[in-house]
Amino acid sequence: MDKLTILKEIHAQVPGMVQLEECSYLWDLALQCGRGVIVEIGSAQGLSTICLAKGSKMGRGVKIYAVDPFNGGGATPDPTWYDMDHPGTPNPVFYVNQGVSFAPFWQNILKFNVYDIVVPIVNYSELAVKQYPSDPIELLFIDGDHRFNYVKLDLELWTPFMLEGALLLMHDSTYHGVRRAIQEVLPKLGFSNICESPIFTARKGSG
Ligand SMILES: C[S@@+](CC[C@H](N)C(=O)[O-])C[C@H]1O[C@@H](n2cnc3c(N)ncnc32)[C@H](O)[C@@H]1O
Repeated sequence: MDKLTILKEIHAQVPGMVQLEECSYLWDLALQCGRGVIVEIGSAQGLSTICLAKGSKMGRGVKIYAVDPFNGGGATPDPTWYDMDHPGTPNPVFYVNQGVSFAPFWQNILKFNVYDIVVPIVNYSELAVKQYPSDPIELLFIDGDHRFNYVKLDLELWTPFMLEGALLLMHDSTYHGVRRAIQEVLPKLGFSNICESPIFTARKGSG
């Protein structure tokens, strides 16, 4: 089966938030990886994860770490941490329900035969980073909590693991919180923007 046929089948069967064109882009970039691993923040039911993993398996089969609390959907339910420059870190009391929606995710991973390279970290990004084995990252896809404070935290916590020249993808980049992070946080971290479409992409370092 050719790539488009496989992608259409995945897209038709796995509920998710990424468009077919974005799935294809994820596949293509994963296919090119070989120096480091792929990390995805925000996996939901596995649509983007499977596209990344299929692409990777067509190439050198690098691992995909899939970070999500699998808490039944939605953002971190922390009312103190809306988009208001709230200082400090989110309140741990709101980190609840980890794993309650892990089963449908893993069924999809099994169904599309990518269980051998997908490594789930069932936790909120800001806690998952402490469990992460520090593998150098070649492709980082951020699609978790889209509020500014959380996107900022994702960037600050995960980009240090990225290799020089590695690619950063940020989904839903027209959302206010994501756009603000692109404008205010990314330049400080030494990224150069590459393209806005089909998914916002930037490269770590200048080369
Ligand atoms: C827009 S959905 C992801 C869509 C997915 N990439 C797809 O292909 O359909 C956002 C996901 O981020 C997760 N999420 C929310 N807060 C998070 C956090 N702090 N860390 C990691 N994931 C988070 C949610 O559980 C949800 O599954």
